[in-house]
This record gives sequence, C-alpha cells and structure tokens, in this order.
Amino acid sequence: MKSMWLSLAAAAIASLIFAKMLAARSDADTGAASPIFGVTIPEGYRQWQMIAPSQLGEPFDELRAILGNDMAIKAYGGKTLPFPDGTVLAKLAWKRIPASDFPAAIAPGVATSIQFMVKDSKGYAATGGWGFGKFVDGKPADEAEHRACFACHEAHVKAHDFVFTRFAP
Ligand code: HEC
Repeated sequence: MKSMWLSLAAAAIASLIFAKMLAARSDADTGAASPIFGVTIPEGYRQWQMIAPSQLGEPFDELRAILGNDMAIKAYGGKTLPFPDGTVLAKLAWKRIPASDFPAAIAPGVATSIQFMVKDSKGYAATGGWGFGKFVDGKPADEAEHRACFACHEAHVKAHDFVFTRFAP
C-alpha cells in the first residue's frame, strides 16, 4: 500500500515537473505554425550568422537583421542560386529608437516581428520553393498577410531566387 502511494506521489511530481517544463518553453518551440505554409519558428535561430542589416523608414521606422542557417551561409559563400533545400532565412525587426546612452546613434527598440523563409522546392513549388512564416510575439500573423509574402518577393527579386538580401560586404 505504502509503495503504491509512493509511486502515485512520484507520478504526480513528475507530471508537475513536465507541466513546468512545457510552460517554460520559449517562443522558439511553441510550435504554432504559419497559415498556408505551416512554417514554425526554427530552434536556435537567434544564434545564426548575420547576412546583412537593413532598415525601413516611415511609417515602419524599423531596424532589421537578416540571418541565415548554416546552409544559407554556405550558399551565400558559394554564390549558389537557387538556394538549396534546407536553407532558412530569418528577418528580425525592431522599432528604431535613439540609443539611450548616445541619442545620435540608433538602437533597436521593441521587437515587432520575426519572419522566416524556408526552402523546400517540392513542398512549396507553387511559391518559388519558399515557405513563409511571420510571427508577432511568437504567434503567427494571419492568412491575408501570408498571401502577400510571395507576391512582393516575386515582383521584385525573382531573379535572385525571390530573396532580397545580399551578403553585406
Ligand atoms: C511589400 C513587399 C514585401 C512583402 C509583402 C513581404 N516582404 Fe519579405 N522582404 C521584403 C524586403 C524589401 C526585404 C528586404 C529586407 C528588409 O526589408 O529589411 C524582405 C526580406 C525578407 C526576408 C529576408 C530574406 C530576403 O528576402 O531578403 C524574409 C525571411 C522575409 N522577407 C519574409 C517575409 C514574409 C514571411 C512575408 C509575409 C508575411 C514577407 N516577407 C512579405 C519585402 C516584402
């Protein structure tokens, strides 16, 4: 009898710990997928290498950093086009604000969105081989926004495999 209570207690503690672990998971692995494409926030994207920074003026007023996974960085290094399957590109965006310690400099303010492009030439054949995902506070943006992704990339940078960003010199 005593051992049954002990194992029940152990099971209860284990499930509590598991629930805590789930609650502690970051945005990166809540698993919420973008509409249409089913793209999720990739694990470890914040540690990827930078391809280039960028910024956009009014009304967005944003600073951005474009990052890529290892496959992306290799493809840029070898000037490989189209990008191979498995390439993932990330665009992190923040409001641009005067740096608190030196107002003439611009610093990242609040994070506005993170966006991804995932290359899978067969899976995303209808959109140039790219799946798109945009997340605000870890949650995917709506379907209408995701419908617009490929249209703009196709209109401007079809000749560069639908990718705007060039590797910063
Ligand atoms: C109106 C045009 C437009 C639309 C719509 C658009 N993008 Fe982009 N995207 C750009 C431009 C311009 C860049 C270049 C970098 C920048 O803006 O800072 C870019 C860059 C990117 C990058 C970095 C790789 C690259 O191509 O340079 C990703 C990832 C990305 N966009 C994802 C998305 C996603 C996801 C959506 C839809 C939710 C989307 N984009 C919709 C214009 C657009």
